[in-house]
Amino acid sequence: MAVKTETEIRVIKGGNPFGAHRVIEPKGTLPQPALKVNNDMSVMWDNEIMVDVEILNVDSASFTQIENEAGGDVEKIKQKILSIVAERGKQQNPVTGSGGMFIGRVHKIGPALAGKIPLKEGDKIASLVSLSLTPLKIEEIKKVNKETDQVHVRARAILFASAIYARLPADLPEQLALAVLDVAGAPAQTAKLVRPGDTAVIIGAAGKSGVLCSYEAKKRAGCTGKVIGITSSDSGFKKLKEYGFCDVNLKLSATDALACYDAIMKETGGKLADLIINCVNVPNTEMSSIMMCRDNGTVYFFTMATSFTKAALGAEGIGRDVNMIIGNGYTKDHAEITINLLRESPKIRKIYEETYAA
Ligand SMILES: NC(=O)c1ccc[n+]([C@@H]2O[C@H](COP(=O)([O-])OP(=O)(O)OC[C@H]3O[C@@H](n4cnc5c(N)ncnc54)[C@H](OP(=O)(O)O)[C@@H]3O)[C@@H](O)[C@H]2O)c1
Repeated sequence: MAVKTETEIRVIKGGNPFGAHRVIEPKGTLPQPALKVNNDMSVMWDNEIMVDVEILNVDSASFTQIENEAGGDVEKIKQKILSIVAERGKQQNPVTGSGGMFIGRVHKIGPALAGKIPLKEGDKIASLVSLSLTPLKIEEIKKVNKETDQVHVRARAILFASAIYARLPADLPEQLALAVLDVAGAPAQTAKLVRPGDTAVIIGAAGKSGVLCSYEAKKRAGCTGKVIGITSSDSGFKKLKEYGFCDVNLKLSATDALACYDAIMKETGGKLADLIINCVNVPNTEMSSIMMCRDNGTVYFFTMATSFTKAALGAEGIGRDVNMIIGNGYTKDHAEITINLLRESPKIRKIYEETYAA
């Protein structure tokens, strides 16, 4: 079925700026926690932006879960994504609850927004709000790239008046910009959290967000600080050493809390770390994050596989007084800060070009 043409789109007045008008169930919720949103693209509210979507960047925790469930079979991955979107009206993984983001071209700007936002029809943008709240209608999945978690589609999406987005930078290839913007919150938060002289542990330090956090943490901690990178696989460990952003590289599973605790006790002479940044894509890593952190230190859970219950009750259970931050995907100027890392560090750019923009 072809995507509806512009003439067929009916415009309705009075949409809620946060998108509550598109929620089907449960009534009264906002689009992210909603189980189902209205993804009818033959209508739009006058304060919405309708976008022709080209690539979905499914977030790593979600993609990994879907890929595992599909046994790695690309056709089954496609079917799973199509069935999630058909059921929920949005790409929200029912197991992880998370989404991802997209790039596409602005198809139509609602009359209540036209002239009031720095966008025009035809502009190429990246969404900076999660797919887990974005009404999406997929007409066709053209390609699934298992290496980059990117899904090439013919689809349409709606951005609400409160949504954030970025016009794609002219000096970077689109897929590179999409990859880095997917995890933009992590290095931008790292920049705010790491102080000179800090000991910071990055879990998942060879991954897409982890590598940016490692680079940024070392920049901020300086020569008196120490950055410790953790990864669990042989291939990840090889990459971690090649990248060279961390002062210490450890091959450990963050699901093994006691092993992580012992290793960081040893590395810090019993002081433990000031800051833990968790960038893994698997569940059950809350306890290692908490145990590696000193009293009154900070744990930043960027991973979408974090359980609030496990973190809160686990910290209480071992009598550890740590500040725990939920990895808000957004922090002020996160897109600019993160895109700038690709311009600032030729090494980061090369890693991203080779690994995430294929
Ligand atoms: N908060 C937000 O707004 C937001 C936005 C986007 C993404 N995310 C989430 O952030 C997380 C990281 O995303 P990403 O794109 O950076 O993922 P990624 O590129 O897949 O990296 C994940 C890393 O975790 C490591 N890892 C996996 N299991 C591990 C274990 N048991 N112990 C230690 N390390 C382990 C992997 O390396 P090894 O295989 O070597 O272990 C890998 O390098 C995901 O959960 C993603 O969903 C959050």
